[in-house]
Amino acid sequence: MSSNRIWQSTVGKKVVMAITGIGLMLFLVVHLAGNLLLFVPDGGVAFNKYGAALKDMGALLYVIRGGLLAFFLFHIVAAIQVYTSKKRARAGRYALETSKGGPSKLSVSSKSMIVTGVVLLIFVPLHVWMFGMNKGAPPPMVMIDGSEVKDIYTMVATSFNQLGIVVFYVGTMLFLGFHLRHGFWSALQSLGAMNPKWTPAIYAAGFVFALLLAGGFLLLPLYFFFFVDVPVAGTGGDM
Ligand code: HEM
Repeated sequence: MSSNRIWQSTVGKKVVMAITGIGLMLFLVVHLAGNLLLFVPDGGVAFNKYGAALKDMGALLYVIRGGLLAFFLFHIVAAIQVYTSKKRARAGRYALETSKGGPSKLSVSSKSMIVTGVVLLIFVPLHVWMFGMNKGAPPPMVMIDGSEVKDIYTMVATSFNQLGIVVFYVGTMLFLGFHLRHGFWSALQSLGAMNPKWTPAIYAAGFVFALLLAGGFLLLPLYFFFFVDVPVAGTGGDM
């Protein structure tokens, strides 16, 4: 089947959603692993070194960012199109069918995907603007291995010292958890990997994955708010 025909079918779009979703989940695993360096009690040296190492990847970093952006966009467009075509199909059936009992667990979860997805769609650009671009202001700088790099530790610590930002992050991470829990098994189902024998184990794995990932991200703002003083910019370096 040509890539155009795959994209035009609902099944094809679900596969695109699954593959891009898994790619985005992998990004989040790597992102959280790097962010765990924020817990190192060294005034930000380890985290700023990690930021500097990322920057040292040069052109490769831009290729990865481009891929990430493409995955993000394909995931959203496919999700919106699958959602609207399902809605249209449901509206067509509505006159013929009456519901036996309440909505199924699956359909409640699928509906929640669009809500949690929209929350993440608002969160991601705001987050990149805040931490990637320091809200448009020149970022604080620090010396690492003899060169001046962005003091991302100070940026994170300063932001997570503000109650409004902490509440926003903690709230959004709860939505992220629900999105990941459903997304995990939904992706496996779309790729045909859901053997009924394994269904309970896959549901459980999705729950644990979402809990670890969203829980890890959620602890960071709380940790900074309650346990870390705002550092003096430029002190989280190695010289
Ligand atoms: C509390 C948790 C989080 C912290 C402390 C955090 C921290 C950061 C920082 C410091 C950067 C900028 C890195 C740099 O400029 O070198 C960044 C970039 C980014 N973050 Fe997060 N992040 C968190 C959660 C998330 C979540 C949950 C998502 C997605 C749902 C996310 C998606 C991104 C993306 C897409 C970028 C841009 C990557 C790039 O430009 O290379 N982050 N994050």
